[in-house]
Amino acid sequence: MEAIGHVAVIGAGSMGSGIAQVAAAAGHEVHLVDAAEGAAEAARARIGAALAQLAARGRVTDEESAAALGRIHAEKRVEDLPECGLVIEAVKEDLEVKQQLFGELAAQQPATTILATNTSSLDIGAIASAIRDPERVVGLHFFNPAAVMKLVEVVHSDVSAGPVLDHVTGMMRSWGKTPVRCSSTPGFIVNRVARPFYGEAQRMLEAGVADAATLDACLRAAGFRMGPLELTDLIGQDVNLAVGTSVWQQTDHDPRYEPTRIQQQLVADGHLGRKSGQGIYRYAGDGRPLDASPDEARMAELLDGPITTDPVARTLAMLVNEAVDLLRRGEASAEDVDVAMTFGTNYPRGPIAWGREIGHDVIAGQLAELDAAFPGGRYRPSPALQEHG
Ligand code: NAI
Repeated sequence: MEAIGHVAVIGAGSMGSGIAQVAAAAGHEVHLVDAAEGAAEAARARIGAALAQLAARGRVTDEESAAALGRIHAEKRVEDLPECGLVIEAVKEDLEVKQQLFGELAAQQPATTILATNTSSLDIGAIASAIRDPERVVGLHFFNPAAVMKLVEVVHSDVSAGPVLDHVTGMMRSWGKTPVRCSSTPGFIVNRVARPFYGEAQRMLEAGVADAATLDACLRAAGFRMGPLELTDLIGQDVNLAVGTSVWQQTDHDPRYEPTRIQQQLVADGHLGRKSGQGIYRYAGDGRPLDASPDEARMAELLDGPITTDPVARTLAMLVNEAVDLLRRGEASAEDVDVAMTFGTNYPRGPIAWGREIGHDVIAGQLAELDAAFPGGRYRPSPALQEHG
């Protein structure tokens, strides 16, 4: 395939502007389109400020920063785009809107243009079905903030063409990103495998096993940079619930992903996390949590106790279960799952490697105990724990 010169980014919101910045910094002429009046220009100004800040910190030279901004062009409409090698769509998360846009793009751009979507939850095949040659459609799932986060999930539908996938994977590397490949499974790799990290802590909080600060401190002690509960406050309870609900709905309400009552209640009450001043924790005006002191004696008890009340062992068992099940379904490679979870969520280790170290037989036993204590299917062990055990 030929080198890709011009890149278009459709949707100049938080993700589109970050993606445009990265593409321009990598040397492409970037055409940024947004349906809202003035939004592409405003994004270009934001990118200019971000690049200037990088230059001020010595990360790029003033010349490089100015040149990258000079390569970004705000366009009014898709019809105004020149021929592009790659178009990345980052408009709102709505299947019909995306399908309509892909129809317009397929008609406006040559048949060789790769059409990518930054969707976080929609099926790539469903978006691609809107056009006559769906082989050229792939997912490029960047993480927020796109200019900073290294991971990009390169997502394929059943019909995405191999050369197209190879080309965009290489391109992401040349942009300084760390690409991983996966199929269009609900949540892709990161948003699927990470579900139990949040879900187990919420269930333990709901059951009164310990307070939030103590549960979070247990996971931090195991090497996680943030505890699951404080992390959902940072992400936003509403955003985290929406991702979880989407995976749950797309898996025919698999109990593994069932949203918790506690999180639904937080969202219903408007306790969305740091951004609203209260979530699982309450926050002071300067953003500090007010009730974040762990009970160290209780921590020691939990970490030394049965699996049902051990936040670390219980969470790890579920993370490993989720990760090996994804491998078993053939949706990604072991290496890519571990890269995705360390780069996308900052886990101290990949769940596949972690699972091998703990031992699949140990994890299968822990899940069997959890399944007996909390029946209903959430804790069913993946057959992969036996196969690879
Ligand atoms: P956003 O709301 O910040 O930006 C969306 C932009 O698209 C808006 O400026 C809007 O005016 C524009 N837009 C809407 N319909 C359009 C159309 N038909 N043509 C042109 N422009 C249109 O949204 P955000 O957060 O940037 O998300 C964009 C996409 O990226 C979504 O699919 C989202 O699921 C995905 N995503 C979001 C992440 C996040 O953390 N915000 C992370 C990874 C993916």
